[in-house]
Amino acid sequence: FSCRKSTMWKYKEFLPVDETKIVSLEEGGTPFCKCDKLGSELGIDLYVKVEGSNPTGSFKDRGMSVGMTKAVELGVNTVGCASTGNTSASLAAYAARAGKRCIVLLPAGKVALGKLAQAMFHGAEVISIRGNFDEALETVTSLALEGQLYLLNSVNPYRLEGQKTIGFEIVDDLGWKSPDRIVLPVGNAGNISAIWKGIKEFHEAGFMDDLPMMTGIQAEMSAPITNAVRQGKNTIEPVKDPETIATAIRIGAPVSAQKALRAIYESNGYADTVTDDEILSAQKLLARKEGIGVEPASAASIAGLLKMVESGEVDKGEQVVCIVTGHLLKDPNTAIDACVEPLEIDADVKTLSKIINKQ
Ligand code: F0G
Repeated sequence: FSCRKSTMWKYKEFLPVDETKIVSLEEGGTPFCKCDKLGSELGIDLYVKVEGSNPTGSFKDRGMSVGMTKAVELGVNTVGCASTGNTSASLAAYAARAGKRCIVLLPAGKVALGKLAQAMFHGAEVISIRGNFDEALETVTSLALEGQLYLLNSVNPYRLEGQKTIGFEIVDDLGWKSPDRIVLPVGNAGNISAIWKGIKEFHEAGFMDDLPMMTGIQAEMSAPITNAVRQGKNTIEPVKDPETIATAIRIGAPVSAQKALRAIYESNGYADTVTDDEILSAQKLLARKEGIGVEPASAASIAGLLKMVESGEVDKGEQVVCIVTGHLLKDPNTAIDACVEPLEIDADVKTLSKIINKQ
């Protein structure tokens, strides 16, 4: 297997797969943007890790590359998942690449348009479940336990193996140093667990001295992990009817909650919540001030950062890496709803000139 140096397979010594069977679309090696304008306003040293630049537009591709490689190694015929959207888009693409049958369960009416289009277009068999993500995951897990498909949700440890490379890249991007803090949105809680695993592996290998405070951000009405952290608890109380405009993280019973809580406590980290309004205004701020277009769930990390600077949880001068997990175009409806429709005119230069000089 050969790849460009800049993909996540740069770290293949740390990934538990048969090198001759790798299924890849050249995932990882995503932009690590220094955000001086926003950072200086907040009085911090801010970097944004842009996971929307992955092949299908989210960080899920890292996990899916390793997970699908394992599916090939095992010789399974059918793969499947439940998803709030991105996992299904990614799985559908990697299943196509590997030539596997792909079944995805989605919460009916609660998946952003771009993600649904991807899952269907790559040829997955898409089934809408009358219920939320948690119920869809329970259903597909039962099917997997019957041996009818190979489950590629983040309960599958190989998914986390792929996603830990986000942690590797951050340390590498900073010149073999840990930032003070890593901030990311938390839904099913796989990613924060995976990144912490990667960080610890590099720390144990002696690649850097310090460790970052792992900081998870959840939507206010879908925040079982933040609720647990606020009470200093080691287990979560599931949220029965999770709600948020950030449909990607509309999850009430995160399957990796235990691992996520361990990551937060072990790293002296933190967890916070943000409202839908805070998410939408952070999404716009990042797009207009730094040119980085992300979907609502991803903007939760920026919204959380703003809130934590305000509350004093984040110190002045801290070096913070925010992970933005998915591309703006994943959820075109939310983006369009936040804007005014373009003015329509005849193709006439005088009219055009009048309009642009009036504003
Ligand atoms: N951001 C985006 C854009 C996501 O799609 C997800 C999860 C998360 C953050 C949260 O990551 O679950 O590892 O804590 N999306 C899953 C899906 C649930 O089905 O696509 P997490």
